[in-house]
Amino acid sequence: MEYAKRFEDLRLKAEPVILGIESSCDETAAAVVRGRRLLSNVVFTSAPEQAKYGGVVPEIASRAHTDAIGEAVEQAVREAGIQKTDIDAVAVTYGAGLLGALLVGLSFAKSYAYTLGVPLIGVNHIRGHMAAAYLADPQLRPPFIMLLASGGHTAVIATHTETEFEILGSTRDDAAGEAFDKCARVLGLPYPGGPSVERLAREGKADIEFPKMFRGNGYDFSYSGLKTAVINYCHTKQQKGEAYSRADVAASFQAAACGALAERAVAAALEKGYGTVAAGGGVIANGYLRELLAQNCAKAGVRLVLPEKKYCTDNAAMIAAEGLVQYRARNFADLSLNACAHIPLGKKGKQ
Ligand code: KG4
Ligand code: ZN
Repeated sequence: MEYAKRFEDLRLKAEPVILGIESSCDETAAAVVRGRRLLSNVVFTSAPEQAKYGGVVPEIASRAHTDAIGEAVEQAVREAGIQKTDIDAVAVTYGAGLLGALLVGLSFAKSYAYTLGVPLIGVNHIRGHMAAAYLADPQLRPPFIMLLASGGHTAVIATHTETEFEILGSTRDDAAGEAFDKCARVLGLPYPGGPSVERLAREGKADIEFPKMFRGNGYDFSYSGLKTAVINYCHTKQQKGEAYSRADVAASFQAAACGALAERAVAAALEKGYGTVAAGGGVIANGYLRELLAQNCAKAGVRLVLPEKKYCTDNAAMIAAEGLVQYRARNFADLSLNACAHIPLGKKGKQ
């Protein structure tokens, strides 16, 4: 059924009310925006349940979404102080993520949009992480540099318009978040790894020399060398029976991993002559990185747009924010929209 066709002649509102729904991993989230103003933000998480297994179990995630999705959306609508009939469009994450998890949010969003008779908007999760910056600063306008650091992606991106990007550099192997998660595992820290490493790092000194960053061309990153260095350091110490400080390892890893991100984002802004760096993705919730970015940007005279921590990790406010971008581009979906496990960020250059 060509549902999107119904809205071909829709008169777009300047400040539409958009319901965002997110269920790609272990957070069941719903949020409402009016234009770039956030009206409500609800996040239920199955992370404590997943922690027992040391990572996300897809089956548990899907079941938790099924339990929570109705309540999450009801609560988001209630807390926004709107009626369901005020909603102008429903934006939902269709990928990337766990298929079974995505399908819960996607199916719910389809029924919701269809019942209300409003457009359905499919949102690429990672574009959502990038769009969180528009909520952090409703005045933000391209061009600016976007530093994206999540569990699946790490990239420095030149944002030309709200829908046109140029990837200046990305990771050649592991994403920054993945590196944090692996470092946590090596140190025997609980899931989720990133916050565990950050907590332990606060008690340590960053005085172990790990390779700081990939010294290749442009703005590419590589985290596999750093990961291997952490593993080798711990194993060598263990084999020799020498004592070592896990907190120092965490702090040194964090300094190396975050240093590369902050340096490259600011260098890109200076090279492009852009006055603003914005950031998004789970790793941007890291307090050390936030401080480093603030310092580096201030030193370089570059403005920094940093979403609050809760809008860096998975949430539906960012999905609604990207929904607004797609609404303005009239990028409406059919009810046949399916879930996608992987969506590439795009090749280097314009996309
Ligand atoms: O952005 P995200 O939801 O992942 C993707 O969409 O791909 O964020 C999850 C990632 C995980 O790898 C997690 O360990 C990392 O973000 N993360 C952190 C912190 N909080 C979450 N990494 C470092 N420090 C944190 N405080
Ligand atoms: Zn995410």
